[in-house]
Amino acid sequence: MTSNKHGDSGLSKFYRLLVDQIRHEFTASHQYVAVAAWFDDQDLPQLAKFFYQQSLEERDHAMMIVRFLLDKEIDFTLPGVDAIETDFSTPRDLAALALRNEREVSDQFQLLAKVARDEENYTGEQFLQWFIQEQVEEVATMSTLLNVIDRADGNLFDVETFVARDMVSDDNGSQSAPSTAGPATS
Ligand SMILES: [Fe+2]
Ligand SMILES: [Fe+2]
Repeated sequence: MTSNKHGDSGLSKFYRLLVDQIRHEFTASHQYVAVAAWFDDQDLPQLAKFFYQQSLEERDHAMMIVRFLLDKEIDFTLPGVDAIETDFSTPRDLAALALRNEREVSDQFQLLAKVARDEENYTGEQFLQWFIQEQVEEVATMSTLLNVIDRADGNLFDVETFVARDMVSDDNGSQSAPSTAGPATS
């Protein structure tokens, strides 16, 4: 970590993108708090619980990258978070937003992997493997949720039942997950 004085300008493209990814992960965490709170407010506790948990997982993703950069003794400035969306009107809006977000993050990790390879940063490339696999699962999960909401056709009790029964997070069970800086929350 560094003071703001030097910024991240001396970093390779791979590390600049990785620092950006900290911002994306914290932004996703923040966004999922907004999504969870919206469901909570609509008295949909299972959907709320699912997204509160997702928010913690996104925070852990950010902190895995922080851990990696610290271990590599990379001089970086911790970024802030981007603006989030809070203006929702239907559960479908939120699931669609989550799916869009996860697809974007998948693209970001694909680009990171390409740049790591271009720069012959094999440690970096190896670090990304868990995230790339994780993104496949997250896109699939959000895609399923969107389909279930569409199929329920307004019956949100069916959606709640599905989420409670079939969308239990298994993220913390993954043995090979990179370590976080500080305690993991999910
Ligand atoms: Fe993430
Ligand atoms: Fe995610």
